[in-house]
Amino acid sequence: MTEKIPSFQTERLILKEIQVSDLPSYKKYFVNYAVISQLSASVPWPYPADGVEWFFNNVILPKQGNDRWVWGIHLKDNPNELIGAVDLWRQGTPEHRGFWLGEEFWGKGYMTEAVEPITEYAFNELGFDELIFSNALGNTKSRRVKEKAGATMIEIRPCLFVDPVLTQAETWQLTKENWLIHKSLLLFK
Ligand SMILES: CC(C)(COP(=O)(O)OP(=O)(O)OC[C@H]1O[C@@H](n2cnc3c(N)ncnc32)[C@H](O)[C@@H]1OP(=O)(O)O)[C@@H](O)C(=O)NCCC(=O)NCCS
Repeated sequence: MTEKIPSFQTERLILKEIQVSDLPSYKKYFVNYAVISQLSASVPWPYPADGVEWFFNNVILPKQGNDRWVWGIHLKDNPNELIGAVDLWRQGTPEHRGFWLGEEFWGKGYMTEAVEPITEYAFNELGFDELIFSNALGNTKSRRVKEKAGATMIEIRPCLFVDPVLTQAETWQLTKENWLIHKSLLLFK
C-alpha cells in the first residue's frame, strides 16, 4: 500500500500511518477514562463500542495526508502494537494538534519524543508558520509537552471537556521562528 503520510523513527519510537490492523490496540489503550476525560467534549463518553472504527473510517481515512495527518505511535521494541497517536490538522479549531498515549506508557518521555519529527514535518514540509495547541487548564502532562517544545501559552478560554470539572482551556502558540530558536538552544544544552 502507498503511504499517504511519511513514517518517522526516533530513538525509541516508530510513527506511522494507522492501519486497520492497529484498531484493536488503538481501542485497548484509547478507551480509558483517564485518557478520554482530558479530551474535548465533542468526544463522546461513554465511548461507543464502534467509536474507534467510526473515527478511522470517517475521519482518518478520508482526510489522511490531505488536510489531516494522523500517526500511530509504536515502540521499536514492540512495533506491532499501537500505544498512542498524534493527530495534526490544517484548519485550527483553534488548535492544530491532538495526542494521546496509553496510560501505562505515560511518564517515559514518549510523547515529547513523538511530537519532535511531527513538528519538524509541519513546519518544513507542510508549510505551517505557526502551530496552535490546546489543553484543559490543569492537564499538566499535556502542558509540559508543549512547554518542552518551546511553545508559549497565549490565552485561557472557556472550553468544555469530557470531564465536566474541566471548564477552561489553555491555548499555546509555537511559531516556526520560536521552534527554530528552541531547537538551536537544545543543541547547546
Ligand atoms: C498528554 C500525555 C500524552 C502526556 O504523556 P506524558 O507521559 O506525561 O508525556 P511524555 O511521554 O512526554 O513523558 C514526559 C515525562 O516522562 C518523564 N520521563 C521519563 N523518562 C524519560 C525519558 N527517557 N525522556 C524524557 N522524559 C522522560 C519526564 O520526567 C516527563 O515528565 P516532565 O516533563 O514532567 O519532566 C498523556 O498524559 C495522555 O495521553 N493523557 C491523556 C490524553 C491527553 O491529555 N491528551 C492531550 C489533550 S490536550
